[in-house]
Amino acid sequence: NHIMKGGYDHFMQKEIHEQPESLLQTMRGRVKFDRSPAKLGVDPYQERRVTLGGLTEHVSTIRFGRRIMLVACGTSYYACLACRQTIEELTDLPVTLELASDLMDRRCPIFRDDMCVFVSQSGETADTIQALEYAKERGALCIGITNTVGSAIARSTHCGVHINAGCEIGVASTKAYTSQMVTLTMVALALSEDSIAKRARRDEIIDSLGQLPEKVREVLLLDTEMRSLAQQLMKEESLLVFGRGYNFATALEAALKVKEVALMHSEGILAGEMKHGPLALVDENMPILVIATQDRMHAKMLSVVSQLRARNARLIIVCNKGDTGIADLVSERCRLIEVPQVVDCLQPVVNIVPLQLLSYHLTVLRGMNVDQPRNLAKSVTVT
Ligand code: G6P
Repeated sequence: NHIMKGGYDHFMQKEIHEQPESLLQTMRGRVKFDRSPAKLGVDPYQERRVTLGGLTEHVSTIRFGRRIMLVACGTSYYACLACRQTIEELTDLPVTLELASDLMDRRCPIFRDDMCVFVSQSGETADTIQALEYAKERGALCIGITNTVGSAIARSTHCGVHINAGCEIGVASTKAYTSQMVTLTMVALALSEDSIAKRARRDEIIDSLGQLPEKVREVLLLDTEMRSLAQQLMKEESLLVFGRGYNFATALEAALKVKEVALMHSEGILAGEMKHGPLALVDENMPILVIATQDRMHAKMLSVVSQLRARNARLIIVCNKGDTGIADLVSERCRLIEVPQVVDCLQPVVNIVPLQLLSYHLTVLRGMNVDQPRNLAKSVTVT
């Protein structure tokens, strides 16, 4: 067993630390990076591309569809939430999100020209399978994104992409989550290859994908710091997590990790909704984690930080290294988690890693079962 865990104490810990390799596996043979200096007579843009074998035949159908609908449960749903904006931005198609169980509860309208994407680590989640059958009956094109070759969802979708993160054993999903975000980003890139207007943006994202494994390796060095933060937080009853834009998903996923493995109450909150209720919970005792890395939302996140500071809140801030704007705002009571910067739409891949480490250490320190949290299963095969 210890050998299977590769020298780590738990599968979750091993899977968190495996992420530089699992991300590489997800991109292997699919993303062509531009690593050569511009050659004479060669269009430099042609050097960068994303090829997804399971999707190539369907790219034009998807491009001319009515909308893209992303369907999933749990952590897989948060991966969809994190990448929604990237898909919208690169395809100019409306992208809707559905929790599989809610889609079925509402018997949500789905049409023949809808493109439904089912995202699932196991490929066996009962709610997601039901939603897939429902969408198929209505004639939608069904695309599967799973981490398990030959799984029910991989078999019954019309086409798809394998996540290729490698086998995930810990009940709480970690490396599958980051690889799902990379897969969905690759899908957005593959769908927008013909767009000249999006070339510069696509190249920026592809270049950042190339650096991602190294940046994740760098952020994993925060392990000891996250353990010491976990020691500070282990006796708390609750942890609020604020984020917005690309990192609203990071806030929800971080909170889910804390509650599902560390069995501590935690809530992910859209920072834009802070004044509509959550602010009432803020006092000088409640620990609050704020994700404030550099993107278009940064100024708004700084204002969130000042408003929380004005209420003397206990702040933990995830920010980019060398962010002087944040450094000027904080007091001794505030802890910074400094992460390397990548392109805005991939920053959630880097940002979640220290928070996975935090939830892992909280779990160990609180004496809870890391790989099999009570009442939970790796793959939920009943509805
Ligand atoms: C269970 C697992 C979660 C997972 C969710 C969806 O709740 O504990 O980690 O995110 O199912 O699973 P799927 O295999 O469909 O991604």
